Order: sequence, then structure tokens, then C-alpha cells
Amino acid sequence: MRAYDIIKKKRDKEKLSQKEISFMVKGFVDGTVPDYQMSAFLMSVFFNGMDDEETYQLTECMRTSGDIIKLDKIKGFTVDKHSTGGVGDKTSLVLGPVLAALGMKVAKMSGRGLGHTGGTIDKLEAIKGFSTELSPEQLIEAVNKFGVVIVGQTGNLVPADKKIYALRDVTATVDSVPLIASSIMSKKLAVENDGLVLDVKVGSGAFMKDLASARTLAKAMVGIGKIAGRKVTAVLTNMDEPLGEMVGNSCEVMEAIDTLQNKGPKVFTELVEVLCAEALKQKDPSITEENAINEVKRVLSDGSAYNKFLEMVKFQGGDVSMVEDYSKMPLATARAEFKAEKDGYIKKIQCEAVGIAGMMLGAGRETKDSVIDMGVGLKLVKHVGDKVTKGDVIATLFVNPGQNAAGALEKLKSAVEITPEKVEKPKLVLDIIS
Ligand code: URA
Repeated sequence: MRAYDIIKKKRDKEKLSQKEISFMVKGFVDGTVPDYQMSAFLMSVFFNGMDDEETYQLTECMRTSGDIIKLDKIKGFTVDKHSTGGVGDKTSLVLGPVLAALGMKVAKMSGRGLGHTGGTIDKLEAIKGFSTELSPEQLIEAVNKFGVVIVGQTGNLVPADKKIYALRDVTATVDSVPLIASSIMSKKLAVENDGLVLDVKVGSGAFMKDLASARTLAKAMVGIGKIAGRKVTAVLTNMDEPLGEMVGNSCEVMEAIDTLQNKGPKVFTELVEVLCAEALKQKDPSITEENAINEVKRVLSDGSAYNKFLEMVKFQGGDVSMVEDYSKMPLATARAEFKAEKDGYIKKIQCEAVGIAGMMLGAGRETKDSVIDMGVGLKLVKHVGDKVTKGDVIATLFVNPGQNAAGALEKLKSAVEITPEKVEKPKLVLDIIS
């Protein structure tokens, strides 16, 4: 078999076999297929696509390129969630405890933030002492005992994706449905959960800018799950503005705590309800949508989800008193306000620019080695569809001395569009594919 022939076949729009796809992936990982041939291969996939079977085979070759994390020592229905990324996305902090309160098992592996998007692991470290490194034995003990842990990624998970993604990044081949779907699903399926709920973001702040392309990606990922014999549901949700009100680290944990106590922002709570209801439907296919949503509402209002969060924080070494009284968590004391410069309706709040404003304040990493300031960030007071009058506060910034508040305010200015015409409030859930 030769890489040349496989590239030529895809270039000529022919279907590749499992053996051919495996030859390319294995060869690239072990160095026998050089960068220039893999680049040509990726570009041919970019232009000519892959069918469901090829996309699954690519995913499977990547998935098995490194460690596989088995969860068979965990008793019960294990479930995971993945978001395709956004700004202000603190969903995992709430979703894990909610699912545990609903009797499911969540061993959540999360990442750190880079660039304009935040990371769950960084946010949790705003709680003093919270450790995101647990031994496999501790992880299993905790999940069996109370249902949820959130830890950093460990082991050598899908090395093929790390290498292929780095090449895609410099060869203009990132935004290809089979390549994105196989990249995400190889990592998700390498951890052997029973169920998986995908939150596919749609809009200016997302990979997929419009509903049609988000649907295509969601179908590809659900299709891979189906061939792999896993339960996978994709929920397509709006990302034309940041999620909830808070963007930062400490402040996002505060919003998550509020939400776990059933007093969080409406839209964010709705997202948690819908994603958790989908997981519940995977566990119990006979439950109706309405009953599933009601179950989620119940664990948010009776304190059981919040209690799961407390148990998790305690087990992972975090200072529980900071959760019980979050005024003890770091929060910058100085404030700056971003105000409307004219009357009208908010049409758009560009997510990436808001994320960059947060990063300019010190809430995110410009490079892998940057140090995060847990206490800075911003609170969006107004949202898309809101009416504003000149001088109204749109966002309050939490600022520490020496940080670029002026730059962040300028960035926010570029993020927010105000129009004289009335703007409808956007729908959060755009579609569900399972
Ligand atoms: N996220 C991933 O993990 N991979 C992609 O290709 C795109 C987004």
C-alpha cells in the first residue's frame, strides 16, 4: 500500500477502505507517512468529503491510537457531555452534579482555556484547594459513591488527533465536517461512557456559523456514535451571544452555584435542563420529554444537585466554605462599566470579542504558559433583544490594577451591535438530533 495511491483515490472522489484509512493514520503517527503527504490527504478530504462509513473508520483509527479509558468499574449509567465551544460556557459545572442527582454517573474530563475560550479546569481552581488530579482509584471511588467528579485529561488520549489537528491548523483544513466530527468523536469515544450528549453551538461565536452546517456536523457525529454502538444525542444551541451573564473564572463558578441553587440566569438554566433531559432520555428511553425536564427542575429546586456539587468539591479537596459563601472567592474589587452609546435594541454580542475582552483583563491565557487572574472578568447585564437607552450599562467589568481595562472596553464596543429596529430574543435550542 502507498500513501500516494490513497491520496489519489480520495482526490478522484473514490471511497476509501478501512485498511487505507488506517494506513494513513498509523503511518502519520509513526512517522512513515510524512507531513506533506498527510497534508495532501487532508486537503483531498476537505474537498471531497467522506461518507458515514469512512468517517467512522477514520474516527476509530484515531480513537485507538492511544489509551482507552474503560469505566466498567463504575456501577450505573455513565454519561458525558461535550460542547463544541463558546464563551461563558460553564455548563459542565452544573450539568455534572445535576446528572449525578438524577442517578447517573459522571466522570468528566475537561480541559484548560486557551485564547478567547475558558476551560472548566481553570474555573474550578478558583475554589481554594480544588484538585483536578485524581488517581484512577479515587475517580472510581468518588463516582461510585456520589456520582460525579471533574478532572483534567490524563494519559495518552488520541495522540493521532493531536498530530493531525496541528497539521490541519496550518494547512487550512480545520473546517471540514468529517475531520471535525472524527476529531471530536475519537476523543469522546476513547472514554467508554454509555451515553453522550453533544452541545453543538451555532452562531458567530461557534465553529458552525449557520444552522445548516451545524446540522450536518451534528448528524455526522451522531452517525459515528450509532455505528460505534453508543447512545449519542446532539443538541444545537444558539451561540450568537455569550452563555449566561458571567465571563471569567471565579465569577463563572458563582453563576454555576447560583444555577445549582435554582437562581441562575434563565437561558443558562434552560440549557442545563435540555442537555440533562437528553441524558436522562438516553438512560431511560421510556421517559417523556416533559417528565425528563421536570425531573431536572426537581433536582435543581430541591437542593439535591447543589448537594452533589458540595460533595464533589469536598472529595476533590476544595474549600466548601467558599461554595457556601462565594463572597470568599476571589473577585477583583475595581469596576469599569461598558455603556450603550445610543438608544436601540441589542442585535448582536460577538462572542469572540467578549472572550478577548476577558482575556485582556487577565481572565484567559494568551499563551499556554500565561497565568490566569481568577478574580477578573465581566458580567453582561444586557442581552440580545434587550432595549437599551444611551448610557445604560451593558456590561460591568471586574478589574484588578495594572490590567488593560481601557483595551477591554474598546473590545466590548466592537462586540456589541445596537440597531433602532426591534430585535427578537433568540431561541436557545435550535434542533435536537438523536
Ligand atoms: N474541536 C476539536 O476537538 N476538533 C476539531 O476539529 C474542531 C473542534
